[in-house]
Amino acid sequence: MQSIHRLDHLRSCVAQWRGSGESIALVPTMGALHEGHLTLVRAARDKADRVVVSIFVNPTQFGPNEDLDAYPRTLEADSRLLEAEGVDALWAPDAATMYPDGFATSIAVDGVSEDFCGSSRPGHFAGVATVVCKLFNQVKPDLALFGEKDWQQLAVIRTMARDLDLTHPAVGAILGVPTVREADGLALSSRNRYLDDRQRAQAAALPAAMRDAIARIESGTPVDRALEALETALREGGFSKVDYAALADAASLRRIDAVDNAPARLLVAAHIGGTRLIDNMAVGAA
Ligand code: PAJ
Repeated sequence: MQSIHRLDHLRSCVAQWRGSGESIALVPTMGALHEGHLTLVRAARDKADRVVVSIFVNPTQFGPNEDLDAYPRTLEADSRLLEAEGVDALWAPDAATMYPDGFATSIAVDGVSEDFCGSSRPGHFAGVATVVCKLFNQVKPDLALFGEKDWQQLAVIRTMARDLDLTHPAVGAILGVPTVREADGLALSSRNRYLDDRQRAQAAALPAAMRDAIARIESGTPVDRALEALETALREGGFSKVDYAALADAASLRRIDAVDNAPARLLVAAHIGGTRLIDNMAVGAA
């Protein structure tokens, strides 16, 4: 595996592969890798000749009071994991490479980015969209893989890629990969490292309460009542604050109050101690 820190090196590496007709898959990450990330890497391996994994803790997607400084940085361990997965290149730029002096561009994706994490984390999705657009332009992959764990992020990236013509011919497809979970249902996340043992045990209340709400909705309980019960279960389970718990159309992310034939998604963000956890699950036939 090549560890690449300079953009000109990345470009010549990618150009060489492309010159010999090889396809390239990109897996963007912020490091602190876990099985969720590695599942994306394995899916990438299956689908393309070459796999590039980026690791960049992107400062522009963190709010002023968020965990940018505390965010786990484990580049050496990450690098060993990626090497063992047969990754071809680790793209690990520094902040000055990504945001040189005078950097002035930001990509705003209206609609899908506005509600949910968009309103509880102002500016977050502009930071994500801009850095992902840069990564696409740097690597020019045939395929880019993202986790369904961050459902709204996936919707924002799909919208941006379509609107800015990133999907053809430079990036052939954006593939969503189902959420990888611990045995008790908690979605894997780099932020789970912040939880102490007690909080980690309590955190399982999140997927449990979501499954419960989905069962209620699917058996005819009105959505608002099912969501109220969900919030109550989270508070009783040790969560201090619920940013949102909502049912939305899976593609447009518009809130809905009933499930019809279109795919629907239950989306939740809640805090336990100082840690904010998000999760989402399909509801109904989807
Ligand atoms: P990060 O949180 O490191 O996640 C990188 C990718 O791994 C994302 O596509 C995310 O959805 C996926 N992922 C995380 N946990 C997962 C799980 N339990 N199961 C499946 N996939 C999972 O998301 C980001 O980084 C950043 O916003 C990024 C897109 C890299 C832009 O900076």
